[in-house]
Amino acid sequence: MSVRLVIMGPQGSGKGTQAARIYQHFSVPAISTGDIFRDNIARGTELGKRAQEYTCCGELVPDEVTNAMVRERLRQPDAADGFILDGYPRNAAQVAELDVILDELGTRLDAVIQLTADRGELLERMRRRAEIEGRDDDTAEVIARRLDIYEAETAPLAQAYADRGLLVAVDGTGEIEAVTARVLDALGSRV
Ligand SMILES: Nc1ncnc2c1ncn2[C@@H]1O[C@H](COP(=O)(O)OP(=O)(O)OP(=O)(O)O)[C@@H](O)[C@H]1O
Ligand SMILES: [Mg+2]
Repeated sequence: MSVRLVIMGPQGSGKGTQAARIYQHFSVPAISTGDIFRDNIARGTELGKRAQEYTCCGELVPDEVTNAMVRERLRQPDAADGFILDGYPRNAAQVAELDVILDELGTRLDAVIQLTADRGELLERMRRRAEIEGRDDDTAEVIARRLDIYEAETAPLAQAYADRGLLVAVDGTGEIEAVTARVLDALGSRV
């Protein structure tokens, strides 16, 4: 099945977890900009070196870098029949650029999933994740910065997608399986 989705939501809302599960359902690649940056940082590539200056402190990597990376990734053959984008777009300029990229590819989004959870739950999840994964941006200070940027730059994008009739808001709290079921149910006839 061809399905093109964006999954958005604050840090710790479960985007990556749900993207992986939705991937199993539709068999289209889950593309996480955060994961691509972390992979490049781990391998010490030029892109990784550039990105790390920003990811370490919770700042957004400059649009020119991120947009080029996403354009390149969406052109790969495995994304031709669809994808789940996690962590992109994150600001208004990236929304506009994604429109251009999809236009170039002659396609468009089917839906934008917004996962919701309150700040207390998000902070608790990231605290647990920090113990398990040891991500260098899951420290109290950097988490606060990331959530602030999310509120200021990313959260408003939901309205833009709602205006286009693409937004599907889903409660991201509770069991992982229950959230996936809610997502698939909410997507309903859109995909
Ligand atoms: N679209 C983007 N534009 C700019 N920077 C990005 C983008 N996506 C990821 N990054 C960078 O990578 C970092 C990690 O992103 P990632 O999406 O993994 O984490 P998150 O959304 O902050 O939290 P979570 O993993 O809980 O969803 C961000 O803090 C940012 O520095
Ligand atoms: Mg993530």
